[in-house]
Amino acid sequence: MILDEAEMTRWGRAIGEAARPPLFLLLRGPLGAGKSVLARSIAQGAGVEGAVPSPTFNLMFRYPTSRGGTVVHVDLYRLTDPSELWELGWQELGDDDEIVLVEWPDRAEGFLPEHRWEITLSTVAGHRETRTVFVSRFGKPQDLPGFPVSVSS
Ligand SMILES: Nc1ncnc2c1ncn2[C@@H]1O[C@H](COP(=O)(O)OP(=O)(O)O)[C@@H](O)[C@H]1O
Ligand SMILES: [Mg+2]
Repeated sequence: MILDEAEMTRWGRAIGEAARPPLFLLLRGPLGAGKSVLARSIAQGAGVEGAVPSPTFNLMFRYPTSRGGTVVHVDLYRLTDPSELWELGWQELGDDDEIVLVEWPDRAEGFLPEHRWEITLSTVAGHRETRTVFVSRFGKPQDLPGFPVSVSS
């Protein structure tokens, strides 16, 4: 799938609206690929109100949703050692009410949850405004009715 930013945002909102916790969504791709753009729109679709800043320096932000759930936005870019995962409370993530969005999950390779969706974003040479999107399912995560999603309307 190839999406421009407006389509990416719409897709993220659709995922957030459809998402039923507990749910792990890992976001892969290089710097500037659009992981935070997608995470923000998923959070908004799930009912997070207000700003959703990038947690690059804090590693983790938690947001209550208007539906009584929680969105956890994690960015492991600055994780230098997997032992820091325990300080973050990584192993407690994935409670019944949590939608967990993880940027840079490769920093936690080997400690990823069994049941999860992985979304890989890539830039396309010569096309600054579009991204390719690959979606992989591992284990048996909750259905994600947002996949595939029509982005044409
Ligand atoms: N199709 C697209 N999808 C998402 N972001 C896009 C797209 N096209 C351009 N962009 C831009 O790319 C940047 C992505 O930034 P960000 O989401 O912070 O990246 P990451 O979190 O992967 O490092 C933003 O400046 C956004 O405006
Ligand atoms: Mg980011």
